[in-house]
Amino acid sequence: MAGESDWQHALLRELGQAAPSRPDLNRPGDAGQALDPARPPTTSAERQAPYAPAPRQDHNARLPGPVPQSVPTMDPRLAIALGGPRHGDSIPRRAGAGLRRLTAPAGQEAAEQTRLAQEVQQPVTTGRVIAVTAIRGGVGKSTVSALLGRTFNHYRHDPVLALDADAALGTLPVRMGAQAVRWTCADLAQILTPAMQLTDVTGYLVPVADGGWLLPAGQGRVGAPLDVRTYRTVTLALRRYFGVTVVDCESLPGEVARTAMDTAHVRVVVAPMTAEGVHGTRQVLDWLAQLPHSVLTTTVVVLSAASPDASLDVQVATAHLRRPGVAVIVLPYDRHLAQGGPIHTAQLSRSARDAALQLAAEVMGRAVTVR
Ligand SMILES: Nc1ncnc2c1ncn2[C@@H]1O[C@H](COP(=O)(O)OP(=O)(O)OP(=O)(O)O)[C@@H](O)[C@H]1O
Ligand SMILES: [Mg+2]
Repeated sequence: MAGESDWQHALLRELGQAAPSRPDLNRPGDAGQALDPARPPTTSAERQAPYAPAPRQDHNARLPGPVPQSVPTMDPRLAIALGGPRHGDSIPRRAGAGLRRLTAPAGQEAAEQTRLAQEVQQPVTTGRVIAVTAIRGGVGKSTVSALLGRTFNHYRHDPVLALDADAALGTLPVRMGAQAVRWTCADLAQILTPAMQLTDVTGYLVPVADGGWLLPAGQGRVGAPLDVRTYRTVTLALRRYFGVTVVDCESLPGEVARTAMDTAHVRVVVAPMTAEGVHGTRQVLDWLAQLPHSVLTTTVVVLSAASPDASLDVQVATAHLRRPGVAVIVLPYDRHLAQGGPIHTAQLSRSARDAALQLAAEVMGRAVTVR
C-alpha cells in the first residue's frame, strides 16, 4: 500500500505545484489558447498553468508533420441552435421531489450515497482503464463515458482522463463540453515519452470545465486514423499519469473496440432499451465469456433509455443481461441528456445522477479487484 499512495501523492503534488486555474471553456478562445504550445506564456499564472506544455523540451519535434491547429468541436451556428440547457426533471417533478425530501427521513438515502461515494473513492495501485462500448453507434456510449468521467472526477482526488477512442466522428468532446480540440491520440502516440511529467502531458490535453482532462480521437474529420497500435501506445503511456482513464470506444465489433474490451480493467457495455438492443448486448456478453481470461466479473452493462417511450419491461431485460458476475445499471431517460450537446451535471435529473454514481461505484468496485 505504501508504494500505491506514493504513486498517487507524487502525482497530486505535481498537480498542486502547477496550481491549475481552469480556463473558462465558455469564453471563446480559452481552450485553444490553453493548448497553444507555440504561444509563449505571458503572465505568471500562465507560466504556472498545467495546460501549457512545460518548455523543458520541444516534444513536438517528434511529430512527422506540422503542429496541429485548434479546431472547434461544433459549428458555432449549430451551437446557437442547441438553445439553453434543459433540466433533466420537469418543474412539477422537481417540486414533488423537494416536498418528499422535506417530509421523508433522509438518513437511509444519505447512508447509501456515502457508501457509493466511498466505493468510487477507493485507492488504486496503478492507473485503471475503463472501456465503454456498445453494439452500435448512437446508443449512449459517449453519454455514459462523460457521466463516468465527471463522476470519477467529482469524487476522486487523483487525475481523471476521458479518452476518445472513437475515430468514427465520436461525440465525446462535445458531450464533455470541449469547445475546441487540437492534439489527438495519434499525435500523442508520437509525442509521449516515459521522461515526461504530468504537467508536460496535460499541456496536450483539453481541460474539462468540471475538472479532469480529455484526449480526442481526431479533429472531427471523416477518416481520422486510430488504429490498435496507436490505441495501445497511448493508453499504456497515459495510465502512468491518471488514476482512472475512461475510454469512449467505437462500436463493436470494431478492432479498436475489441482490443479495448480485451485489455481494459473494466468494460462497460451500453445497451439500448429495446428488445433487439438487449438481444445484441447479450451476444456481446456471450463473446466476452469465451475470452481466454473470463472478463464477465469485470463487466457492467448500462441499460439506457434514450427515448421517453421505451416500453421494454426493465426487469425482464435486466434478467436477460445478468450473466454470472455482470452488473446491470439502468440509466433512465433524461430530458437534459436527450437534448444532446454538452452535459451539465447540475441539469441532470435526480435519477440520472443517482444512476451515474451507482455505475461509477460498480465500476470502481470491480476495477480494484484486477491486478
Ligand atoms: N439516458 C438518456 N436519456 C435521454 N437521451 C439519451 C440518453 N442516453 C443517450 N441519449 C440520447 O442519445 C444520443 C446519442 O448519445 P451518445 O452521443 O452518447 O451516443 P454514442 O453511442 O456515443 O453515439 P456515436 O456512436 O454517434 O458516438 C444523445 O445525444 C441523446 O440524445
Ligand atoms: Mg459517441
